Amino acid sequence: MNRVTIKPAIIAGSGLLSMPGLVIDDTLLVDTRWGQPSGPVYCGRLRGVEVLFIARHGDTHAIAPHKVNYRANIAALKQVGATHLLAFNAVGGICADCDVGSLIVADQIIDYTWGREQTYYDGEEGRVEHIDFTSPYDEALRQVLITAADSAGVTIISQGVYGATQGPRLESAAEITRMERDGCDIVGMTGMPEVALAREKMLPYASLSLVVNPAAGKASGPIGMAEIEQVIVERIPVVCDILSHACALVSEQARAS
Ligand code: HPA
Repeated sequence: MNRVTIKPAIIAGSGLLSMPGLVIDDTLLVDTRWGQPSGPVYCGRLRGVEVLFIARHGDTHAIAPHKVNYRANIAALKQVGATHLLAFNAVGGICADCDVGSLIVADQIIDYTWGREQTYYDGEEGRVEHIDFTSPYDEALRQVLITAADSAGVTIISQGVYGATQGPRLESAAEITRMERDGCDIVGMTGMPEVALAREKMLPYASLSLVVNPAAGKASGPIGMAEIEQVIVERIPVVCDILSHACALVSEQARAS
């Protein structure tokens, strides 16, 4: 019999400040050894499944990507019992297939960020460990997202390389050309160090990315915020549908095992 309570957590990014359909039972203000998380951890039920929810940029979207306390967010979720982390990221599209509105479940990441607190193993606790990061995302949880999209009748791109940039500014066209040469398919500002910290805490982590704009230089002219808003309004319901199917699947799979 499985005695571990399965509790998937959603880490929501830009465009997703609350989860439609989430019946909130508890609002948890969690303190961690690494400081305060971005906001409360909401504990509730989605399609009858117990889930946790946190807004990565805070409930009013006031925390810039380079200022997010990623260590506190992941530690807080672990402290309140999260067993699986499902992240949502808004991204720019680099590869030819990554049109605006596409959804991608990345399988690799390249880190271009700098100056962020990116590890729990900084030696301050008398211990340094080097985690394996060959496959940054949890493959079983990636497959859950892919199956969830299929169940929701949504076409997605089932692999790709996420390039994590520092922000908060968008990139120059030359930076995107370099990232494309490096093999990046999408670009966002929050993929790292989040996924690495999840691995350090031994929490399975997968991410669903929504392309909200062509990356710099991939369309004529500058990137327009109004267009980004429009894509978010149109596609967030689909994102939520996939995420809630994914939470249900995680719970079903645990019950069946
Ligand atoms: N670059 C980086 N992060 C992003 C972008 C982008 O073009 N779009 C949404 N998040």
